[in-house]
Amino acid sequence: MDNISFKAMVVTEVSDKQFVREIKQKHIDDLPAGDVLINVQYSSLNYKDALSASGNKGVTKKYPHTPGIDAAGVVEESSSPKFKSGEQVLVTGYDLGMNTPGGYAEYIRVPENWVVKLPENLTLRESMIYGTAGFTAALSCFKLINSGITPDKGPVLVTGATGGVGSIALSILVKSGYEVVAVNGIVDEAEYLLELGAKEVISIEEADDQSGRPLLKPRWAGAIDTVAGNVLSTAIKTTQYGGAVTCCGNVGAAELHSSIFPFIINGITLLGVDSVNCPVDMRMKVWNKVASDWKLDRLEKITTELPSLEALEERIGLILEGKSRGRAIVKVPG
Ligand SMILES: NC(=O)c1ccc[n+]([C@@H]2O[C@H](COP(=O)([O-])OP(=O)(O)OC[C@H]3O[C@@H](n4cnc5c(N)ncnc54)[C@H](OP(=O)(O)O)[C@@H]3O)[C@@H](O)[C@H]2O)c1
Repeated sequence: MDNISFKAMVVTEVSDKQFVREIKQKHIDDLPAGDVLINVQYSSLNYKDALSASGNKGVTKKYPHTPGIDAAGVVEESSSPKFKSGEQVLVTGYDLGMNTPGGYAEYIRVPENWVVKLPENLTLRESMIYGTAGFTAALSCFKLINSGITPDKGPVLVTGATGGVGSIALSILVKSGYEVVAVNGIVDEAEYLLELGAKEVISIEEADDQSGRPLLKPRWAGAIDTVAGNVLSTAIKTTQYGGAVTCCGNVGAAELHSSIFPFIINGITLLGVDSVNCPVDMRMKVWNKVASDWKLDRLEKITTELPSLEALEERIGLILEGKSRGRAIVKVPG
């Protein structure tokens, strides 16, 4: 393909710890080598994107950089026999948008093993409403359910419930017949969470026990946590005998302090969830669930569509302040 120019967000370090975001023209030859060149139609905004777009070197080591850990589009060129030009595909995870130029651009070029064929019954736009956050939510539900937590065992707690991962996990659990108790943090969004199907909404104070006691009254059969820190340790000590707790995120803290007692007295299982390097067979299983039994009827309710790369700016600020709700997708072609 000719070395055409295309639009992309470029984050540049202008001085020590100062970063600017601009929408600029890049060229196809600026992209790294790879098997599949994709013309991106939609991307999405995750917590990790906001960190990469604001100079967090734990996520992105080298700038200038184009963020966007999710991308959905059409294969433009492929040297892989697995993909043909014109095919609809999506990429989430691996190194996309971290240290590889990501989905906030009209083109990406990636290795073939990062690319997933768009599942039947899902559009490119819908796949980005799920994106990494939705895939992580679905993987968390998959692990929780496979650990034996069935709807008859009792309610499931979801923390960070207004966020991308939390909103989708809540919705999938409700669709699968679970009673969900949602934790509402910074902004009062109880009405939204009840509309998504939560049976009860509790405050962040109630979910953040300060007593220091090793075990508390059992309240849930399981929990899906996105916050970590004391909120996760509270979820672990309020889960009933034989229950399971998934953890995938650290919006609240990067630590977990817990006594051993929930594990050795209540037999609690702590399930780690990683969407980045999740093996391809598990990836396909979870995407197929997302496109079938778990396909949400009211995706638009949790979605904000940003009309252009330029519109990402405001939403990045909101996500960093913990004030965004649901999922934001961005229409890439300008
Ligand atoms: N392991 C993986 O593969 C993987 C994949 C995707 C995401 N993640 C991680 O999962 C987490 C959630 O991602 P996301 O995309 O859902 O983020 P998000 O859309 O920004 O949502 C996070 C939610 O957490 C709550 N929150 C924010 N700051 C908080 C604080 N200081 N204390 C307590 N609650 C707070 C807010 O909900 P409320 O106001 O309702 O509490 C917020 O809506 C992030 O840490 C992300 O990096 C991990």
